[in-house]
Amino acid sequence: SGFWVVVPAAGVGKRMGADRPKQYLPLLGRPLLSLTLRNILAWPGLAGIVVAVSEDDPYFAHIAEAGHPHVHRVTGGAERADSVLSALNYLAGRVPPETTVLVHDAARPCVSLDDIQSLLADDVSPMALLAQPASDTLKLGASDGNRQVVEKTLDRSRIWQAQTPQRAPLGELQRCLREGLERGAGITDEASALELAGHQPQLVEGQRDNIKVTLPGDIPLVESILRLRYAATEE
Ligand code: CTP
Ligand code: MG
Repeated sequence: SGFWVVVPAAGVGKRMGADRPKQYLPLLGRPLLSLTLRNILAWPGLAGIVVAVSEDDPYFAHIAEAGHPHVHRVTGGAERADSVLSALNYLAGRVPPETTVLVHDAARPCVSLDDIQSLLADDVSPMALLAQPASDTLKLGASDGNRQVVEKTLDRSRIWQAQTPQRAPLGELQRCLREGLERGAGITDEASALELAGHQPQLVEGQRDNIKVTLPGDIPLVESILRLRYAATEE
């Protein structure tokens, strides 16, 4: 029993533009993926972690958590959804289909234990995701020659920004991702695959600081969040 966590970590980090995939860049002196795995390993009720890394990844074996008995490695794929599906296929032969799986980006080391407990609360739907209500006014852009202009302003009150983790039962998530990929639908998170199959995952409000390391400027930001986090837990 307990829940499993799938960590897609097979991306190339194109937007970061560094000399290696962003999940291996040092933050506070440790590879980003190592920080994320260390965080997950402290979640109460964890049964294990499956990390999807790219086929010829030379870095994973060197991170501290690679040898941890609860950390399993699989080979990821071309898109994030392929990497997640690869990890689910690995799990499917080992645990029952109703097992709760949380999918969590390697690039989000700051998610808090409070957020995990909110997502796993008894009264939350088995299909759910952390998300943040939009705080900026949102504009729909349109091309006008070589510039972008406002077509209209969206109703912000119903807009949420999806974060991770996203939770679902193993068997149903595997089926929905497989079918979504077969249909060639652009699947950028687990919830979108579930939605295509007619499910309505629950939006669970997460904290703002669960940011995804994407651009170079995110690194000092995440380092300062983590510094505060670690200082608070060491009190
Ligand atoms: N990911 C993955 N397999 C892929 C693509 C992405 O496992 N084929 C993972 C990334 O490693 C990351 C998470 O999915 O942990 C979220 O993706 P994103 O932030 O977009 O990372 P990258 O795809 O690496 O970055 P970019 O889009 O800038 O290239
Ligand atoms: Mg990407």
